[in-house]
Amino acid sequence: MERTASAPVILAPSVLAADFGRLAAHTTEALDAGAEWLHIDVMDGHFVPNISFGAPVMRGLRAMAEERNVPLDVHLMIEEPDRYLKDFAEAGAALITVHEEACPHLHRTVQAIHDLGCRAGVAVNPATPLVTLEEIAPDLDLVLIMSVNPGFGGQAFIESAVDKVRRCRQMLGGMGSRALIEVDGGVTPDNTPALLRAGADVLVAGSAVFRGDVAANVQAFRQSAASAGRQVA
Ligand code: DX5
Ligand code: ZN
Repeated sequence: MERTASAPVILAPSVLAADFGRLAAHTTEALDAGAEWLHIDVMDGHFVPNISFGAPVMRGLRAMAEERNVPLDVHLMIEEPDRYLKDFAEAGAALITVHEEACPHLHRTVQAIHDLGCRAGVAVNPATPLVTLEEIAPDLDLVLIMSVNPGFGGQAFIESAVDKVRRCRQMLGGMGSRALIEVDGGVTPDNTPALLRAGADVLVAGSAVFRGDVAANVQAFRQSAASAGRQVA
């Protein structure tokens, strides 16, 4: 998980933006075009004002992802995530990310994710300061910087996220953390170079991958990353 200057950028298409009527087929297009992870957005209608899907739907994508050796990257936008960690681990999650704002006992939650054999991430909303991660960061495999207020796909990128990524990279570097930095919300080939230069490792993209020609969209990310001196997939 260690980031190096030459480390490839990981593109993680968010299946929230895929056509649910042909979920596996549409998702497969993104993976066959070279995307490295699959991002699974789980929303409960409480922590965020929208409901998406849960572990049973994710289980339906598992075989397709495993065949291609693609990790399922689960983003839990739910209250009391501890109650559901085992379900998602058993449904094939490689990484489980919970929200700092949803976890009063975050250290315990992160431990529980590790005990289930998954890598652990913590997400912070746009208004949540990075300092809330200072104590837990050494235990994390991933920090997710939200670049929209979570709940919906297709929202406009909040520009201040770029500087937050930069400060997060500094913070993690300063404590010798090996955690990856993931950015989620409104990510496009246009803001990709700035995010990569700031230190992002994993780019989540829903609309920018699944709207229109999926293979061409993935290629656009690859070209944009290359222009910033990094490679996608
Ligand atoms: C937002 C979700 C995102 C979202 C990204 O609540 O966590 O993963 O689906 O979608 P786009 O790329 O369309 O902003
Ligand atoms: Zn997400």
